[in-house]
Amino acid sequence: MNRKKRILSGMRPTGPLHLGNLHGALANWVEMQKEYECFFFIADWHALTSDYEDTSLISKYVQNMMIDWLSVGLSPDKSTFFVQSHIKEHAELFLILSMITPVPWLERNPTYKEQIAQISDKDLSTLGFLGYPVLQAADIIMYKADGVPVGVDQVPHVEITREIARRFNHFYGKVFSEPKAILTKTPKILGADRRKMSKSYNNAIYLSDKPDIIASRVAGMITDPQRARKTDAGNPDICNVFEFHKLYSNSETVNRVNNECRSAQIGCVECKKIMAQNLIKALEPIRDKRKYYEARPELVDEIIADGCDKARNIAQQTMKEVRSAIKLRD
Ligand code: TRP
Ligand code: SF4
Repeated sequence: MNRKKRILSGMRPTGPLHLGNLHGALANWVEMQKEYECFFFIADWHALTSDYEDTSLISKYVQNMMIDWLSVGLSPDKSTFFVQSHIKEHAELFLILSMITPVPWLERNPTYKEQIAQISDKDLSTLGFLGYPVLQAADIIMYKADGVPVGVDQVPHVEITREIARRFNHFYGKVFSEPKAILTKTPKILGADRRKMSKSYNNAIYLSDKPDIIASRVAGMITDPQRARKTDAGNPDICNVFEFHKLYSNSETVNRVNNECRSAQIGCVECKKIMAQNLIKALEPIRDKRKYYEARPELVDEIIADGCDKARNIAQQTMKEVRSAIKLRD
């Protein structure tokens, strides 16, 4: 029998998840649960690579992230969830991989260069930050994952993972397969200010937001910037609110907004109100599930502990193979 393909992905626990995360990753993960053997983990050591100065919120974010995941329909009956720092084998594999990873591979990584250039409020000139993709490679090949669902910014990291796996196999014999990045198709929803939805831009709608917060967030969204007055015709094709309608409103409403915006029959205030209502309604099951898990923190802990046990078993097996391949005694 063919074994199901194995998928693995992770997220750094840097704060509550928003609609950008939902449509950019989580919705896709929920779908993948149906078809693949899935491992999803919370990369708390990776969070340390940039947030090493103040680590006080990380463990709270880990707990909240697990609840965010469960609230959108990721299920412990279908997938395995774990926390990176609970599986110490990742640190050992990272160490071994760092012996064979040429520093120039890391220095030319476009994601690395971009972040070094953009982020000025933190000192990222650390060994840990440079080695970020090596730890990520350890995360991935530890489980011999076939596919890694990620956004475009993470593709270079999966590419480095493949190169490191290849180099390991070349030196020590074939232990690892080369995982493939699975690019997530994402609808182009933006934040309230039309920049990428992000915690750091303060423009996000969070999965955990209450209805009145969602309504006020939507009311503040920038629409078609050319449309100054209600009597001006609008262009939904360049309006972020319309992208949200396409995700959350029924086709009748989408068609109506499309027509009435172009003919200046509907104003942005009304259009947003309709969208906000539909958005609030669509997120209701997520809010309900969140309430359920928030009331049962011991259940959340148990889900994490069970997932960690499963992951650790695999990681221990892989590390036996690794030690044997590099001829170090167990
Ligand atoms: N670097 C990823 C991100 O920031 C998180 C991550 C860590 C990851 N390890 C991983 C993603 C392994 C996929 C596979 O989004
Ligand atoms: Fe956007 Fe709706 Fe305003 Fe048209 S009416 S510009 S779709 S918010």
